[in-house]
Order: sequence, then structure tokens, then C-alpha cells
Amino acid sequence: MRKIYVFDTTLRDGEQSPGVNLNTQEKVEIALQLEKLGVDRIEAGFPAASPGDLAAVNAVARAVKNASVMGLARSVEKDIDAVFEALKGAADPAIHIFIATSPIHRKHKLRMEKEQVLETAQRAIRYAKKYFSRIEFSAEDAGRTELDFLCEVTALAVREGVSVVNIPDTVGYMNPQEFGNIFKTLKENVPGIENIQLSAHCHDDLGMATANALAAILNGADQVEGTINGIGERAGNTALEEVALALATRADYFQAQTTLNLKEIAKTSRLVSKLTGMVVPGNKAIVGANAFAHESGIHQDGVLKEKTTYEIISPETIGLKDSKLVLGKHSGRHAFREKLIDLGFDNLTEEQVNAAFGKFKDLADRKKDVSNEDIIALLEEKMIETPEVFALEQLVVSFDSHATPTARIRLKTQKGIVETQSEGNGSVDAIYRAIDALTGEEVVLDDYTIKSVTDGTDALGDVHVVLKQGDVSAQGRGVSTDILEASARAYVDALNRLVDKRNAPPRSRRDRDNVTLV
Ligand code: KIV
Ligand code: ZN
Repeated sequence: MRKIYVFDTTLRDGEQSPGVNLNTQEKVEIALQLEKLGVDRIEAGFPAASPGDLAAVNAVARAVKNASVMGLARSVEKDIDAVFEALKGAADPAIHIFIATSPIHRKHKLRMEKEQVLETAQRAIRYAKKYFSRIEFSAEDAGRTELDFLCEVTALAVREGVSVVNIPDTVGYMNPQEFGNIFKTLKENVPGIENIQLSAHCHDDLGMATANALAAILNGADQVEGTINGIGERAGNTALEEVALALATRADYFQAQTTLNLKEIAKTSRLVSKLTGMVVPGNKAIVGANAFAHESGIHQDGVLKEKTTYEIISPETIGLKDSKLVLGKHSGRHAFREKLIDLGFDNLTEEQVNAAFGKFKDLADRKKDVSNEDIIALLEEKMIETPEVFALEQLVVSFDSHATPTARIRLKTQKGIVETQSEGNGSVDAIYRAIDALTGEEVVLDDYTIKSVTDGTDALGDVHVVLKQGDVSAQGRGVSTDILEASARAYVDALNRLVDKRNAPPRSRRDRDNVTLV
């Protein structure tokens, strides 16, 4: 079996998803989980974008011990300097340099002739060599680059001593046959290509990112780049969990494997979804809530007789546990702690376990059956500790289908306990108006989603909101058996994060997007 290296760019290309803006603590949390998942390389960000980005990449670099941490740079000295600075303290640092090579990008974005692109790339690689023993070079928009020029660019990068040449389908334009052919052509025509690794980086604009990455692997790619849950610019990137499971499930066909710890996939997916606020669609391959659900009678009958009739992957493969009830109102702290370890929450402090146990007891009082999903939702509601500027003390809602809903809110703030009542177009609107009045924060509700954690009328409601205030956006999550309470908790959580972000060093999308491209 050939080893396929996994290059995770959830923290860089994934963070370029519209509306996503991870803070340093969130980036480190995800990076440590990626390390557990066993990815080989973590692209932690684009340090030249802002001092905040640089600091976040540095925090990841210092935290991760068992994966190479990388930073992205355009082919300019100041970007390379920023990556060098950001990766100080990394166990295994490496740089990722790119320049666009396609005719469209050369003409309209770079305003460079082919020769200038080659010279710029050469200069950048030589400059980076002063700092880094491992360099990955990307020919941005390689998919739409003339094949003979792409061979020329790759040959130059190989001659200059890079370790990896990455072939991005930047705009998701390729189909598997074409994309595979690029790798075959490079393998056959570039002198010295056997001394470097070839990498595939695909986007999903036409829904072919995973298929294209697999076609690249079949044609000699040694590394696949992508993100968890396939998040990323526009339609996103190759979903790494899809590639890993395709290779594992069809090892007979691909004869290639990643060394990922597949049992960490479900947990990694949940964490990325929670911290980015990007909800995983139910029908998403591998990690969607329905990926292992059998609905039709014929399918259920088949699965009951023999799982493999309709199941090509077992849920346990990606670390999903059976969700049958195991804990209840009378369960003690010891059983609860064992359960947490079983569910993968094995690094909680005593304080966190105690807080979680309190929440579990509250829930067990309100809900008859407490499932694994309930416990996970409770735990994930507050995995990142944000300073609590505001805390929900009490919520009273009055709803009558013939009258205007009202909400009375009591909040703990830094000035003490405050209380007010507001009306709204609906109960949630009334709650949010009351919270706005109490906090004095002017925010826009950019997104609101609600989902049920399990089945049944007493299921936990899991609310996710995104709030915006000027350039700063923050997401929050609230979980409760009552969806109005969950809505209020999510809003207050988002407000706390927003205040925290506002006070943090700047690394807003505006900073990132204002960086002029070469
Ligand atoms: O999609 C792309 O081309 C990129 C490069 C920076 C590698 O993300
Ligand atoms: Zn990309």
C-alpha cells in the first residue's frame, strides 16, 4: 500500500469559508484534534495577513508536536518572513509558497508574463531556502494552466529543491479524467519528479473535489490537501474524511492508504462544525447525521439480517458510538466520568467534569432518556472558555397566538444583575430585543439555526447563531430541552465571544482580504 500524506488546511483554506473567523484558542483546539486524527501536515494560516493571524499560527506551531505545522506565503519576501516568524517554536516547521500560473491569473491578477512568473517563483523559493529545509510550492490555478507551462513551473520548483509541488484546482473546474492526466503528464515529463512529492488540492465548485483528489492519487499524487467537513472558499475544499474513507473502504482498488486514525473522524468533524459554526448537512458523506441511518423498510430489513447489505462503512469505523441510553437520573459521578472518557472527552479538568456533571443532572431531571448525543451536545456547548461578560439568569416568555409575544430577561453583567421586558415579532425576537436592550450591544443576527439533538418531543434543541457587529462576527451555541432557552443561551454565548473578539488583536476578514496579491 502506498502512503498518502494528509495535508489539512481547515485552519487556512477552511477558515476562508464565508462567515468563519476562528480565534487563536479555537485554532489551537482544532489543531490538537487534527494531531489526534493523525494528519501529517497542518496549514495553520496565512501569517502575512495580519499580526493576529501570525500570532494564531504561532500558537498552533507551539502547541502541535506530532505533525508538521505550515504557513502560507505568496511569492514575496515579506510573506516568507512572516511565516518564518510565525513558525518559531514549531517541532517540524515548513512553508507553503504559491504563485498563480494560469493565463487568466497571469493576465488579470498578476499582470505578468510567463517568464516573470518563473523568475518570481525562483526568487521566492531561493529566499525561503534560507529559513526552511522543507518547502511546498503551489502553482495556483494549475487546473487552468497550459500543461507545458505547468511542466516548466514544476521543473523549476524541483530544480530549486522544494519537497512538494502542489497542483491546485483553485476554482473547482476540473473533472477527474483531466485532473488525473495532469499528474500523469508531470510524472512522465518533469526531470527529477521522483525526488519530490506531488500534491492535489481541489475545490468543490462542481461537486468533484473528492473525485478529482482520488483521480490524482490514482495517477501518482503522494499527498492530498483538504479540510474537515469539506469547508472552504465558496463551495469548499476536498473533504479529507471522504478521501480517507474512500481509500480505506476501497483499498482493493486504490492500493493506497492514509495513516489517519479513522476513529477520530466523527469527533474532529463535530469540533470543526461547532467552532466554525458551519453545520454539517444531514446527507453529507461520512459525517452527516444520516450517513448511517436506514429509513426504508426494505433497507432496514436488509441491515437487520446482515449489515453489509446496505452498509459499506460501519459507524464505529469513524468513532461513532451506539446511542442507546446508558445514563439516567440516578447515575453517579463515577459512571458519568467513565462515559465521558468513552465518548472521547478524556482531557477534561476536574472543574470541567464537575460542571458537565451538574448540567447532566439538570438534564436528567428534565428529560427521561439521556443519550450519548445529549451528553456530547452538553459538553460541546461550552468547550471554549470565553470570559463571561454576560450570563443568562432568568428567562420568562409569554406567548399567546392572539397577542404580541413578550420576553422578560434577567442577565448578570459586569455592572450587576439587570432585568428588562421586550416585545417582538415572535418569542425569539422578543428575547433577542430584551438582551440587546440589557447589553447595549448593537448587533445584527446574521444566522440562526436550530436542530434537534435526538428524537422525541423532549429532545435537546441545539441552537446556533452568528452575530455581526461591524467587521467582527461571532457565533454562539445554546443547548436546552426548551428551544427558547437554547435560543437565549446561544445569543448570550455569541455576545460573549463577540466582546472577546473585539478586544483581541485584529485578525478580521477585512485584514485578511485587504492583503494585495502580487
Ligand atoms: O486553491 C488554491 O489555489 C489555494 C492555494 C493557495 C494553494 O488555496
Ligand atoms: Zn484552495
